[in-house]
Amino acid sequence: MNGVFAMNQAIGLEAMLHALAERHGSKPVPAPEPPVHVAAPTPRRRCRAIAVAGGKGGVGKTTVSVNLGMALAKEGRQVILLDADMGLANIDVLLGLTPTRHIGHLLDGTCGIEDLLLSAPHGLKVVPAGSGTRRLAQLGNGEHAAVIRAFDDLPEPPDYLLVDTAAGLSDNVAMFAAAADDVVLVVCDEPASLTDAYALLKVLSRDFGVRRFRMVANMVRNASEARVLHQKLARVCDRFLDVALEFMGMVPNDERLKQAIRRQSAVVDLWPSSRSGQAFKQLAGAVDTWGEPERLGLDRIAFFSRHATVATGW
Ligand SMILES: Nc1ncnc2c1ncn2[C@@H]1O[C@H](COP(=O)(O)OP(=O)(O)OP(=O)(O)O)[C@@H](O)[C@H]1O
Ligand SMILES: [Mg+2]
Repeated sequence: MNGVFAMNQAIGLEAMLHALAERHGSKPVPAPEPPVHVAAPTPRRRCRAIAVAGGKGGVGKTTVSVNLGMALAKEGRQVILLDADMGLANIDVLLGLTPTRHIGHLLDGTCGIEDLLLSAPHGLKVVPAGSGTRRLAQLGNGEHAAVIRAFDDLPEPPDYLLVDTAAGLSDNVAMFAAAADDVVLVVCDEPASLTDAYALLKVLSRDFGVRRFRMVANMVRNASEARVLHQKLARVCDRFLDVALEFMGMVPNDERLKQAIRRQSAVVDLWPSSRSGQAFKQLAGAVDTWGEPERLGLDRIAFFSRHATVATGW
């Protein structure tokens, strides 16, 4: 490809990303109030909360959450996977699990967080969100905060709490991402994936103070395609946003992964030596090298908790 043409294309994409994000604007989110310090009575083992987000639908957020969670569990880590795609939950379907209770029951007080835990292969635990319930899709910030805080009731916190978030820029997504220690952004090589990821980065950084993101390039052909995708987005972030977008790794477009989904299993369980199986093992290895989380997610979400309401009628 001619160099000038390639450059024009890159500039065109950057301008498009920025213009689109400006046009989208962001939902008017109330300015964060100063965090309320929550005193911890007894020191507990620190759980790292990782939100998996992406902006666009269908980019592979759930696939990455499930397989990354199971890959970490296979390495001996204790992992809880929270399905935060409220009302359209599908982790249970993806793993062939049959929940009898969901987040709604937790919020109306008819069960505790421990009662929701489902067992998946390799010791992975899943908290299902509930599907086909409009009320769950319309939770307020207080209810989201109540879900996050419920994990404090676990007698033994896991090493990792992975949170699979919904598509879009809703308060639901923002809440879970803002409360997490790390935000993993799943991006694939499509213009809409890039523009939606950029819009999400913008909202999370500007309105919620999230400054660091880690990117997984999904459904790419190879590592160099993944790097190019990361550079495209990182360049726009450097120019227009005050955020750091680190490259975390990639997952190739893999027929084995699709076959595993059709069998309601994780590819890291069925075919760990497939290309995608290996990729998830590498991603899990990367997560294990991250240092101590910089801050307590709970401190950050304390200001969301003020107006917690009790939900009923699922
Ligand atoms: N690495 C991959 N290789 C091949 N197919 C993939 C890969 N990742 C995802 N897919 C395909 O994309 C589909 C959508 O993935 P997934 O449900 O994880 O996306 P999502 O971002 O969670 O979607 P939603 O926004 O609807 O929650 C999967 O059912 C699978 O068919
Ligand atoms: Mg999903």
